[in-house]
Amino acid sequence: MIKLGHRGYSDKYPENTMMAFKAAINGNFDGVETDVQLTKDNQLVLIHDETINRTSNGRGYVKDHTYQELCKFNFNYRFKNVEAKIPLLAELLDYCYGKDVILNLEIKTDKIQYPNIEQMTYDLVKEKGMLKQVMFSSFHLDSLLKLRSIDPDLYLGYLFEDDYQKNKELVLKHHFHCHSKYVFLNEQEIKDYLKHHLDVNTWTVNDEEIKDFLLEAGVKTIITNKDI
Ligand code: G3P
Ligand code: CA
Repeated sequence: MIKLGHRGYSDKYPENTMMAFKAAINGNFDGVETDVQLTKDNQLVLIHDETINRTSNGRGYVKDHTYQELCKFNFNYRFKNVEAKIPLLAELLDYCYGKDVILNLEIKTDKIQYPNIEQMTYDLVKEKGMLKQVMFSSFHLDSLLKLRSIDPDLYLGYLFEDDYQKNKELVLKHHFHCHSKYVFLNEQEIKDYLKHHLDVNTWTVNDEEIKDFLLEAGVKTIITNKDI
């Protein structure tokens, strides 16, 4: 089973920072999951929310700040006395280059559809020569369809957390890998995806017993905050 650090090793380090990514990669994780968004000056940055309010000492939308402006804020959410800046996707890719590490890049377009973010993300990963170690995922169907039209060989995972039957049908119809929230998965459901030659990569699994059940049932990847 593959174990990816959700926003890095976010149980112990500020989420979506190089600190959290390095801790996961140099620790017991096989790689990391992270969230890609776009700044005002078209830089690909890694942050979960569309605003910086929760995770930094700044305010406002990511899309309304330039990267240099964002660099002035401390993204040390939950961890006092730590200095952490917002990472560029390029920094994470450079750090992982040549390492046996899997990256799950979530294109965060379910609330804001950043123009061209799919092509930009693809181009950067391709330029770095890292397409083989990246899973692309999104809650936003259009982003996955755009990525597929850019390169039909990409590893694409459809994220969903509600409307199970409707979303399952979409997964099967488009032949995306299943990136469902784990609560929907039972042995039969997992079998069903496997029968269609689709991987099941699920989140956010922070419990050892649930992890063991999913492993036994054939889940390929868990995305977890914890070193379980
Ligand atoms: O990739 C799984 C997970 O990251 C999706 O949920 O809200 O943490 O981005 P969220
Ligand atoms: Ca995510």
